[in-house]
Amino acid sequence: MRTVLVAALGLICALPALAADMPPKPVRLGLCAACHGETGMAQIPGAPNLAGQRLDYLRKALKDYRDGSRNVPLMRAAIGPVSDADLDQLARWYSAQTPQPQAAAQP
Ligand code: HEC
Repeated sequence: MRTVLVAALGLICALPALAADMPPKPVRLGLCAACHGETGMAQIPGAPNLAGQRLDYLRKALKDYRDGSRNVPLMRAAIGPVSDADLDQLARWYSAQTPQPQAAAQP
């Protein structure tokens, strides 16, 4: 009983810390989630997993789509004329996710 109580207390104390570590959910996440999943695991064939990729890499990838130096029409359309702040939030969100085992069998 005592152990359970201590464990429960520990969990309650840890929760705000966990929540603080996770960046806020980006407003534009819904669109991205259609292809990359909310937690960064790809939902469609051909889309990359984003979960846990380095923040600097994700930020640069998104900037490159935005300015056209990475010229993939699909992603350029998806990211659109996003602000630096939104872009940063999206990169932080996906970078903070933990990669999961692949859901679907690979073709
Ligand atoms: C219609 C499907 C689709 C949507 C919607 C979409 N993406 Fe993508 N995304 C892709 C595909 C396909 C690629 C691979 C493009 C390439 O080859 O460069 C990609 C690539 C990326 C990459 C580069 C990953 C890497 O490993 O280099 C990032 C970052 C990314 N998307 C973020 C986003 C974000 C953030 C959004 C929402 C604003 C979004 N995507 C919306 C399909 C999509």
